[in-house]
Amino acid sequence: MDSDLTFGAAINFVTKCKNELKWEDLSKDTVMDVGCGYNFYCSRAILHQFPNVGRLIALDMHPSIIMKTRLARDEMFKNKIISNIVQYCAADIEIRDSLQTYKGSIDKVVSRNVFHQIENKELAIENIYHLLKPGGDAALLFFLDNPIFTLYCKIMSMEKWSKYITRFAGYWVLSHLYVQEMPEMHIWLKVWGLWQSYKSSGRKSLVLMTDTTKLISPYFPGKLEKNYYKNVMQSVGFQEVRSEIINIPLVYRNDEICLSELLQIIEGIFKIPGERNVEFKCDLLECFKNIIGSKSEPVCYTTVGLFLFAVKPSINLASENESESS
Ligand SMILES: C[S@@+](CC[C@H](N)C(=O)[O-])C[C@H]1O[C@@H](n2cnc3c(N)ncnc32)[C@H](O)[C@@H]1O
Repeated sequence: MDSDLTFGAAINFVTKCKNELKWEDLSKDTVMDVGCGYNFYCSRAILHQFPNVGRLIALDMHPSIIMKTRLARDEMFKNKIISNIVQYCAADIEIRDSLQTYKGSIDKVVSRNVFHQIENKELAIENIYHLLKPGGDAALLFFLDNPIFTLYCKIMSMEKWSKYITRFAGYWVLSHLYVQEMPEMHIWLKVWGLWQSYKSSGRKSLVLMTDTTKLISPYFPGKLEKNYYKNVMQSVGFQEVRSEIINIPLVYRNDEICLSELLQIIEGIFKIPGERNVEFKCDLLECFKNIIGSKSEPVCYTTVGLFLFAVKPSINLASENESESS
């Protein structure tokens, strides 16, 4: 997808947060962007809308993403890293222990286009509540359903094609200094089962292969019942919960256009031998049309997104809820 379009969409999301949650001056606030991703679209959109934000924590479960903050090309973003306004954190929103440093210290949590990659969304929502200060805001946007992601998973799980998934996209070097600088790296080395080899390497740099299969995003469609996540948020203790489902209809004029879009989306993931290319393309298109139930041209389908906005109640009620859940 075009990066300007994606950045524009991130700006729209932050504008919606601003309007829904009445954000004005964030100069004393700590904002956390959960699942910041390689391009930091949402983090950068926050800086764009709120250049004076007190602190912005870009969190992602992939430390390789976090390392990229150092290579950021966006000047404002880079300057805010240098001045320590933007900080990064390698953590998993589904693992409470990995978030402990920030417990009860965040004013605003935002998460855009992440929750469809999270299996236990209920637990992640509970963890966001745990991260927020009393009176803090949460704003989420994610896909409840996206047939493209369903296709992605389906085709990769088909035995006849999965053997052509390219395994290694490259490698990256994890320097000893970097591990020393980031104490949470120790947790991640343990999570990845690399702690022993790090220690036995005499704490030298580690060369880690980037396994493409590990970079492929998982997809867990959400529950489509109207108020399901609103109820989850309320049961965790959130107040003033608003949920808004958006259906986005999409059309490809004909099969050829549809196929070329699908091929773009999976580009680089498969290395299909030339003689099986035609069969692969047929499977890809047929699989997608089966998922969306399309029999003729044009190819029409709908993605379903969900906005959630909520507030953690201020002091008394919040601490009652915390003690009940612990
Ligand atoms: C589509 S990308 C990022 C989108 C980005 N927020 C934006 O606005 O463009 C989703 C990101 O969520 C991260 N992610 C997925 N599950 C996560 C989890 N359980 N905890 C933290 N990050 C997660 C992935 O590593 C990935 O970088």
